[in-house]
Amino acid sequence: MTMTRRTVLTTAAALAAASWSGLAASAGKSKSIVIFFSRTGTIKGLAQTVVKLTGADVVLELRLVKPYAANYSDMTYIAREERREGTRREISTKIPDLTPYDTIFLGTPYWWGGVSIPMRTFLMDHPLEGKTVVPFVVSGSSSPEGAWEDIRKYCPKAKVLEGFHRTQSEASGCEADLKAWLQSLKLI
Ligand SMILES: Cc1cc2nc3c(=O)[nH]c(=O)nc-3n(C[C@H](O)[C@H](O)[C@H](O)COP(=O)(O)O)c2cc1C
Repeated sequence: MTMTRRTVLTTAAALAAASWSGLAASAGKSKSIVIFFSRTGTIKGLAQTVVKLTGADVVLELRLVKPYAANYSDMTYIAREERREGTRREISTKIPDLTPYDTIFLGTPYWWGGVSIPMRTFLMDHPLEGKTVVPFVVSGSSSPEGAWEDIRKYCPKAKVLEGFHRTQSEASGCEADLKAWLQSLKLI
């Protein structure tokens, strides 16, 4: 059995809390990657847990060429315009060749009726054809249906599995729910 060290492409001290000590999946097992965007850390927390539970081979945090304004009302206004206009928000994170990854976990906050603009920008460039896509989403209070619709729209040739959603107030301490969801999808 060949073991390779898990590759960590995020810059992230913030992800250091995840268990990185394990080694990657054995040769022959399908490879997985966790790709997420998080503005205020909620999705990042879920991404850590997904990595811990699945032993995903790589985790990638989407970072921005031009970060949003720190002021919440300014940035939500800008993001709403971007959503309305179909504008991109460019990603500075170097995206690796995704060919080796069969399963792609996508984590995003829910923004204005769909996935966040950075995640939408990523999906515009990476339609994930032929991949198994496993989305997880956090919203303030909205139902996440618009996020699943976005992912199906931007990834028309991916196999999109049932997503995981919690509101922000539910998101801390939902590890058992995440585990049950992953088990129901037979991913762990
Ligand atoms: C630009 C923007 C738009 C948002 N739109 C919605 C929305 O339409 N519905 C909702 O319930 N929450 C909305 N939220 C709240 C976020 O989904 C919520 O705070 C989420 O937990 C943030 O995740 P994060 O901490 O990983 O960035 C919005 C937040 C931002 C910044």
